Amino acid sequence: MGSSLAALIASLTRTVPDFPAPGVQFADLSPLFADGHGLRSVIAGLAEASPPAASVDLVAGIDSRGFLLGAGVALHLGTGMLVVRKQGKLPPPVHARSYALEYGEAVLEIPAEGIELAGRRVLIIDDVLATGGTLVAAKALLEEAGAEVVGAAVVLELAGLAGRAKLGTTPLAALITQ
Ligand code: PRP
Ligand code: MG
Repeated sequence: MGSSLAALIASLTRTVPDFPAPGVQFADLSPLFADGHGLRSVIAGLAEASPPAASVDLVAGIDSRGFLLGAGVALHLGTGMLVVRKQGKLPPPVHARSYALEYGEAVLEIPAEGIELAGRRVLIIDDVLATGGTLVAAKALLEEAGAEVVGAAVVLELAGLAGRAKLGTTPLAALITQ
């Protein structure tokens, strides 16, 4: 990844102290997503940093900011897009997995019927890797459904929270690390 992309991301990221809980430094990427050049650049950067298009069958974007990035990456790679949703949004049956957030706890779900996931090679996209709980839960869900997670890519990795180690051998690309 070029240093100019890292500089662009850094310049359009707003760090908000004590949100959503005291002691949490919230990295707000909204200005980056609202900038035409910024949005195009991060989506192209995520697609380039991911495994080659020929080795990805499906992109999985994580609710909610992984949706807007994942859809762009799926268009780049020529794949479809699976939405990994927060609890209660999908009709049954679902695969569900609870996980600890940097702040609080949540549940992610994917459909257990209607989309063939067995044997499909899936790339997971999200905006931020913090503790890794979210990405690990998404990976576990996809594997429970029989998919092979061939990689994950995020815009921002908060290295101090050691989320990367939780992903095991799954390749993880980050456009910028703080
Ligand atoms: C944020 C961020 C990542 C996740 C990273 O999402 O968008 O998905 O936290 O944290 P982790 O690595 O510690 O699990 P959040 O759950 O706040 O929801 P949102 O994307 O809907 O804003
Ligand atoms: Mg999120």
